[in-house]
Amino acid sequence: MIETQAFSKLKPLAESIKQIHLKSLFTGDVNRFEQFHVQTEHLLYDFSKQKINSEVLHELLNLATESDLQPWIEKLFSGEKINQTEDRAAWHTALRDINNPLTEVAQQWRKMEHIVDLMHSHQLRGFSGNAITDVVNIGVGGSDLGPLMVTYALESDKLSIAPEIHFVSTLDARQLQRLLKKLNPSTTLFIIASKSFTTIDTLSLAETAKEWIEEASPSNESTLRHFIGISTNPTKMTEWGILPQLQLEFWDWVGGRYSLWSSIGLSIAFKLGMRGYKDLLAGAHAMDIHFKTMPFAENIPVLLGLVGIWNTNFLDLKAQAILPYDSRLKYFASYLEQLEMESNGKSTRRDGTATTYRTCPVLWGEVGPNAQHAFYQLLHQGTERIMSDFILFTQGQSNSERAKFHQNLNIANCLAQSRALMVGKSSKDLNKNYPGDQVSNTLLLNQLDAFHLGLLVALYEHKVFVQSVVWKINPFDQWGVELGKKLAMDILAHIETHTTEKLDTSTAGILNTIWKQNNEN
Ligand code: F6P
Repeated sequence: MIETQAFSKLKPLAESIKQIHLKSLFTGDVNRFEQFHVQTEHLLYDFSKQKINSEVLHELLNLATESDLQPWIEKLFSGEKINQTEDRAAWHTALRDINNPLTEVAQQWRKMEHIVDLMHSHQLRGFSGNAITDVVNIGVGGSDLGPLMVTYALESDKLSIAPEIHFVSTLDARQLQRLLKKLNPSTTLFIIASKSFTTIDTLSLAETAKEWIEEASPSNESTLRHFIGISTNPTKMTEWGILPQLQLEFWDWVGGRYSLWSSIGLSIAFKLGMRGYKDLLAGAHAMDIHFKTMPFAENIPVLLGLVGIWNTNFLDLKAQAILPYDSRLKYFASYLEQLEMESNGKSTRRDGTATTYRTCPVLWGEVGPNAQHAFYQLLHQGTERIMSDFILFTQGQSNSERAKFHQNLNIANCLAQSRALMVGKSSKDLNKNYPGDQVSNTLLLNQLDAFHLGLLVALYEHKVFVQSVVWKINPFDQWGVELGKKLAMDILAHIETHTTEKLDTSTAGILNTIWKQNNEN
């Protein structure tokens, strides 16, 4: 990045624009919105509340070109092995080309559709012969967050014949135990979702779930009817006991955090039907086509990525807030936390050298109207410069007067906050002084349905990819999480043998305190 001509030109531009208050960019230019927004059939992206001008935008687009973004996009879509540290492709885009699927993808859709049909026609039955009423997805990270986020967001599209869907991810098992108290083992089905089928979090919960079924079930054969497996590792699924007809597969070229488009999305298909699930894929595919074909100046993921790079690497912003103005997107920020930070939270470049510039900012978020009464104080008057993404939908809940009122209130609040962050308000009393000058994006979509949600998620996936290309990092591996996993197993061995030998004094001290307190209880 720093070797490019665009970088050298952008550096001084940043120093001068830093001196200009964001609101002055508006007062000096009545066409600002016209100039800095892109609108497609489904989506409006307004980046006029960013500290950019046409010269900056021009150089950012040059930065993308000089970073070989177009050839990288082509590599992504062609299924080339661009995840070079794991020697794999990152071909999630191939999962959502619904009219032109790969043979193996179409085959899994057929198997998935069969299972979904059995479920919806009440032919999936447990050990008692009663139809399944509840499905529990056990998985973590990418095997949890995507389906959780989507099924929660699209609750109002749930088919009447669909079972209740639940999610369990945390290895302390309290979440699972709390849920099991409400469920009947004879009518509960578990989806064991794990790309690797080796993740201890998921497998330990799966064993606990199996014990729960076993306690009520008459035989091992009937117990196993309560478990569907989804993985890239059929051998491990079989070893665990998943019946062949209840195994769904996907492939190593699908990254965990990009896997909701694969059979990992089974819980989505249970809730919405295959049609709803495919609408989600179709929305993502529409964004794929946009990303692949539009010139950079009109390409929303490219612009979103470049604006983020401008803020991070030139204006020195270190944090990014995700603020959907729709309670149905309750889990959207959690989903993006993994997508963005597990992908681009890296400091080694593809060529093995260390980066000399900042990469992924800290990203967090919350449903906007709730966040207004929680952390917006820091956005308005704190010491940190934060970039925010406001996400808003045009359509309200219904045409009733009450629903329209709530929708208007919601729109007003969203626009008020991005405006307040931009303009601020000066006061001699510093307690009441709002500096403003905080940048934001606004994404406006027509409505929140499967298609638009697919489009929105794919937009962020491609934004992450654009940034990784400019930063010259591989967004598709996650070596950073391995050390913690390994140390957890080492410490578990210490706990089970009750020794603290070779542990640091902090770890040993905490373990000794736990053992002492447990003995006293
Ligand atoms: O946290 C690391 C990670 O490997 C994620 O990338 C992944 O989504 C999650 O663990 C779960 O992995 P698996 O689906 O293999 O159980």
